[in-house]
This record gives sequence, C-alpha cells and structure tokens, in this order.
Amino acid sequence: MAIMSETFDYARYDRIRPIRWTGDALELLDQRHLPFSTTYLASRSSDEVAAAIRALVVRGAPAIGIAAAWGVVLAARAIDAASGDEALARMQPALDRLNAARPTAVNLAWALARMRAALATAGADWREVLEREARAIETEDLAANHAMGTLGAALIAAGSGVLTHCNTGSLATAGFGTALGVIRAGVAQGRIARVFAGETRPWNQGARLTVWELQQDGIDATLIADSAAAHLMKTGQVQWVIVGADRICANGDTANKIGTYQLAIAAKHHGVGFMVVAPSSTVDMATAHGDEIEIEERDSAELLSFRDERTVAEGVRAWNPVFDVTPHELITAIVTERGVVKQPDAASMAALLRR
Ligand code: MRU
Repeated sequence: MAIMSETFDYARYDRIRPIRWTGDALELLDQRHLPFSTTYLASRSSDEVAAAIRALVVRGAPAIGIAAAWGVVLAARAIDAASGDEALARMQPALDRLNAARPTAVNLAWALARMRAALATAGADWREVLEREARAIETEDLAANHAMGTLGAALIAAGSGVLTHCNTGSLATAGFGTALGVIRAGVAQGRIARVFAGETRPWNQGARLTVWELQQDGIDATLIADSAAAHLMKTGQVQWVIVGADRICANGDTANKIGTYQLAIAAKHHGVGFMVVAPSSTVDMATAHGDEIEIEERDSAELLSFRDERTVAEGVRAWNPVFDVTPHELITAIVTERGVVKQPDAASMAALLRR
C-alpha cells in the first residue's frame, strides 16, 4: 500500500475540545456521560476544578494538567495580592489541593510548577501573567501533539494494523491527541489500515471515548475486549500497540492506564512493536524508575457496578489500581515532540531531554 502525503490538515481532526476557558469559568466536557451526552460542566473555583479532576469529568494526563493550570487562574480570583510572590503564598493551599486531585499523571504537578514559576517572577500584573501561562500550556500541548503525530506515524509501515488502549485523543489533551494523534496521522497517510481499541475496563475509556472520537473523524475502528488483545496479536492483525503515558521515568519506564503492561508483554512475545507517545511534560526525570511511581487506586465501586448499578454479588471485594508500569525493556519507541527514542534507557532519555 502506498503512503499518501506526509502532511495533512490538522484542523480536520480538531473538532472536540474537552476544556474551554470562558473568561470567568472553566468549562469541562463531562466525560462521565460520553458518548451519549455532550454536556459541559462549569467550574468557578479551583476547588471545583480539583473535584472535577478527581471525579474524571476531565481525564487524561495532559488534559488534567491544562485544567489545573486554569484552576490556578480561578484560585487567583479568590485573593488579593500586590505581587506574584505574595499571591503565590496566599494561593499555596489551593495549589496543594489541585495537586492532590490525582497522583500518577505527572502533567498535573508539572503544570502547577509552571504556574508557580510564572508567579514567582511576576510583578503587579501577576493575574495577566497567570492567564497567559495557562493559555501557553494549552497551546503548546496542541502543537506537541501535532509534532508527535508526524514523528510517530513515520515509524509505521504502510498497511499496518494498530491497537490502542485507554483514551489518548482530543478528549485527553488540548486537542488531536498523543497516541491517538499518531493513529490519526497514520490513517491520513495511508500507513494504518486497521485500528483496534481495547475497551479499557473498568472505566471503559476505550469503549466510551476512543471509538466515539474516531467515529467523529470518520476513522474506522474496531472495539475489542481487553482480554482479546493477545489473540489479536497472535492472529497477525496488528503490527503496533500505540499508547500514551501518565509518567515516563528517567530510565524510560512508563506508567499508563492499567492493562498497558500486559499489552507490552504480549507485544514482545508476538514481535509486535510497542510505541509510547507523550509530550515532554509527561517525562519526569526526578523519578528514576517505575517502582517510585505512586499508582492511583480508585473506588472498587468502579469495578463492582456499571452505571451505578451493582453487577457483582454483594459482599465481594475488588482491587482497583488504575495504572501500571511498563518496564522500558518492553518499549520499542518513545515518541515526544522533541524526537523519538528507540529502545529507551536512562542515557537515551537524558539525551532526548537535552534536545
Ligand atoms: O484515568 P485516565 O483516564 O486519566 O487515564 C488516562 C491514561 O492512562 C492515558 O493513557 C494517559 O493519560 C495519556 S492521555 C494522552
């Protein structure tokens, strides 16, 4: 199969926006109700933003970082200060509450650190500085996704099949997506002939969000049960597994949605490529390896019920870790907007971040 043009119209894929800043509120596309209802929930305080992040109204590592940045802008509305320094001291408790909303995705702490740094050097115009910084975080994320789409797609041979996990698209970012951005680019270029998405139990990000997003673009995708992945690989239908990341350690170990690790093991066994796509804001050089990452555990109700209706016998216990860590040895390539690292390790990750 021939590869079509390497460039394409990104705007064609930029229809969904999970985050909207109105000037006095943050509107979040409520992902708890997708795909059947597209309603936006307005937050008017940083604590409302923190609650929305915790409840998965907004989710996906880059998106929660962007939402938290706007949460800081809202926190600023609640205080008075003559300088950035003074504002920072007054807002610290609100920033801490935002930071505690979810522990695994480093983009949240990264975005808050950026907002803090902007404040620290701001003068009397600190409110405008904050707003500009939040806007920059959002704009840069979209640009990074476009760059990664091109870099990642270039690794894929024409006519390939791919499997993705969770949701890494416009819904999880400022737009276009990370792993899903590579898939969008790969499909547009004629490199990807078949797209499969795992349903991503228990919250069903794949079933509820990813296949819906692809449907909006007219990209044909097939949903599989998470447990069908190894069989899919064995039957030769996919040449790449393409996933996002919540935190990439200094040695390349990668935390992502629960189930990613077993996909990487199955991919290795079947000679299928394993690609991680994430902006450099997801790389955490302060975390040496995966064992140091805090893995979020959520309410077992997510596993024991469906749409608030219990599906499991009363009295049954469940364990619900929502992320896992894929060791770097199982990763074929990490794609960031700064470039691609093949067979990542501590040395190649350090070199990437120096670019
Ligand atoms: O619990 P979620 O839905 O926030 O988890 C999201 C993921 O694990 C994504 O794969 C990751 O954040 C990358 S999103 C571009």
